[in-house]
Amino acid sequence: MCGIIGYVGGGTDGDKDGTASDGGGETVGDIVHRGLTNLEYRGYDSAGVALVGATSGLTVAKRSGEVDALTVPDVPDATHGVGHTRWSTHGPPTDANAHPHTDCVGDVAVVHNGIVENYETLKRELSAHECTSDTDTEVIPHLIEDELVADPDADLLAAVQRVEDRLEGSYAICAVREGDDQIVVARRGSPLVLGRGADATFVASDVTAFLEHTRDVTYLEDGDVAALSADGVAIVADGEVVDRGTETVTWEADAAEKGGYDHYMRKEIHEQPEALRQTLAGRLDTTSGDVDLDVSFPPGFLADVEEIQIVACGTSNYAGRYAAQLFEELSGVRATVEIASEYAFGAGRSPDRTLVVAVTQSGETADTLGAVRRANAAGARTVAVTNTLGSTVTREVDNTAFIRAGPEIGVAATKTFASQVATLAMLAVAVGRDRGALGAAAARSVLADLQGLPGAVQQVLDEEPQVREAAQEYQDSEAFFFVGRALGVPVALEGALKLKEISYDHAEGFAAGELKHGPLALVTPATPVVAVLTAGARADETMNNVTEAQTRGAPALGCVSADDEYDTLDVSFDVPEVGVLEPLVANVYLQLFAYHVANEKGRPIDKPRNLAKSVTVE
Ligand code: M6R
Repeated sequence: MCGIIGYVGGGTDGDKDGTASDGGGETVGDIVHRGLTNLEYRGYDSAGVALVGATSGLTVAKRSGEVDALTVPDVPDATHGVGHTRWSTHGPPTDANAHPHTDCVGDVAVVHNGIVENYETLKRELSAHECTSDTDTEVIPHLIEDELVADPDADLLAAVQRVEDRLEGSYAICAVREGDDQIVVARRGSPLVLGRGADATFVASDVTAFLEHTRDVTYLEDGDVAALSADGVAIVADGEVVDRGTETVTWEADAAEKGGYDHYMRKEIHEQPEALRQTLAGRLDTTSGDVDLDVSFPPGFLADVEEIQIVACGTSNYAGRYAAQLFEELSGVRATVEIASEYAFGAGRSPDRTLVVAVTQSGETADTLGAVRRANAAGARTVAVTNTLGSTVTREVDNTAFIRAGPEIGVAATKTFASQVATLAMLAVAVGRDRGALGAAAARSVLADLQGLPGAVQQVLDEEPQVREAAQEYQDSEAFFFVGRALGVPVALEGALKLKEISYDHAEGFAAGELKHGPLALVTPATPVVAVLTAGARADETMNNVTEAQTRGAPALGCVSADDEYDTLDVSFDVPEVGVLEPLVANVYLQLFAYHVANEKGRPIDKPRNLAKSVTVE
């Protein structure tokens, strides 16, 4: 996730008050640079700063790579500056794509988090301007430039307010301008927090960036635009000056990095609504029922395609299993899923009629890369679905669809699973529409369910206390069995994987119908059965299998569609209605359950024993 830091206060030279609130003997460049270092934990691939000097004007430095590799310019008269760590979403991690971005004359610099959904339209409207990057961000300084040319009396605040009216999407923006002694910021959808020092003001994506200087903070709300000076802050919302109050942060830096959560995993579970919004942003046309994933195929390829082969490992494999069912239903193409390390391009298949989809959060998993290489060698067309711009897989496939979930630090994959399934669902719609297998009305219905996902996931997150209670009650069980049918099967597999990897408890997931073909021998009152009982998961049939386990004394927990009820369950978690995406929403309960069982046991949740986030050996 990109990170923003801004500071206005002129730095300190030791003969001022030297208190922690103003940085204590540092230049503006030093303060901004250390803010970037404090944001590194969020994950990034490029970094940059813009410093504004009283007489020296605007100086920008940026590059791909680490914050340490960035040389911050020496601007002794700097009064304020902004910095940015970029996690690429539009365009690869190059120097040109790093933030800040500037206008044509280099007077205005902008850093930005989030996505400007209508940037392509705006870029066309800016045809007289010279754009030099692939980013959506770059339109913002050029739009500000236009506003300042159109109204030379306007200040930066007025210009940003007008530009904001033209932006669609979710974002946080910080802008500076030569000759202007303020930083202007705007928030819509992406977080921004202000730090209130004694004679300095900070702004950042999270408090970690400036916590060493001040603990007094003001959280901006969506729609707020604010002008920051060393003396304070003026916040405007709907044309009125507003007071958002000030709070004192009591967390230490380590907790602040995790946004107040004890573990990255829990933070990332809670980031899912925002991650999903980013996954979907600007990609759905709810009028036509079409999807734009920026993935192209040679003319006629999709019409003739005979098979979609999904290759992936672990959680990504389960996302693939979910998606395979959607591909068959929505695009009418046979879809198979292979564990990447087992994949071979089978005899009797025609490579030029096969699409191989490699699903990998990191884009670096050796087993998945091996499968891609085997598919390429066979002559099949390949697409990667990944979270990581510039990763190895993106260089080895014909096309890439990015899931845009933001960096995931916990070893256990959580938000990336949700964003993978959402991205693959969009790909299934795109293929179905292209082949004429999916009508506009049916496509619109899937897109409506996708749009409902962030809200549905939030509703589940709001039920966390109920899940914690269940985890406390069942944490000492001998083993856990997760079951489901249809789209519930991959979720059952994923629920078991999550629990075993972070709690070290024995957990197995399987198709509910298989219970009676063997595993039932293991079922006792000490082995809870956790079932997916939602739309898309053949709930009534699954419940019959759950009853078989209950008859043997097993406690039963179920994730149940909001409009259904199974009275005999020991614990019932409500799943909001989102059609074929309900099992995906149910999975959030399973993530929380795994988290709380592991937490009760004091496990090292973010770094489970023997596991690595990115498995780069075969
Ligand atoms: O980066 P990838 O998506 O290719 O990683 C694949 C698996 O190693 C990964 O999903 C693993 O199973 C998860 N950490 C489990 O939570």
